[in-house]
Amino acid sequence: IKRNYHERVLDHYNNPRNVGSFDKKSIDVGTATVGAPACGDVMKIQIKVKENKVVDVCFKTFGCGSAIASSSLATEWVKGKTLDECLEIKNTDIAKHLSLPPVKMHCSMLAEQAIKRAIYDYKVKQEKLAAENKGSSEGIIETIASV
Ligand code: FES
Repeated sequence: IKRNYHERVLDHYNNPRNVGSFDKKSIDVGTATVGAPACGDVMKIQIKVKENKVVDVCFKTFGCGSAIASSSLATEWVKGKTLDECLEIKNTDIAKHLSLPPVKMHCSMLAEQAIKRAIYDYKVKQEKLAAENKGSSEGIIETIASV
């Protein structure tokens, strides 16, 4: 079966980049876990963001060789990019780079989804934090005003 895989898939499969995990609760980390209902494969991608750029990234994929290769490649592509640049990564580019056959398109889809959702998760965290800070500074102002 392996003979059918493109050498780039095998390379990532045998030598995956950026495998690991970050602390999900960390404020500079965005996490996404996505699954493909058709095959049951699951992919987790986490990004670490600083000044709107992905400074570090890691993944864990429980799935087929194409899903592992797609997520490994995706981590290489997002590293050092701004969040907006990361949002432009298309599963079709991943599939093309890895020469995935049509039946394996959904594996690359998982990687695109995981990147997008990890960014979303990070942004939601930042918004919550901003709202909390705003709340507490307003609280301080009120306290000062009432003194
Ligand atoms: Fe489902 Fe690859 S076969 S993710």
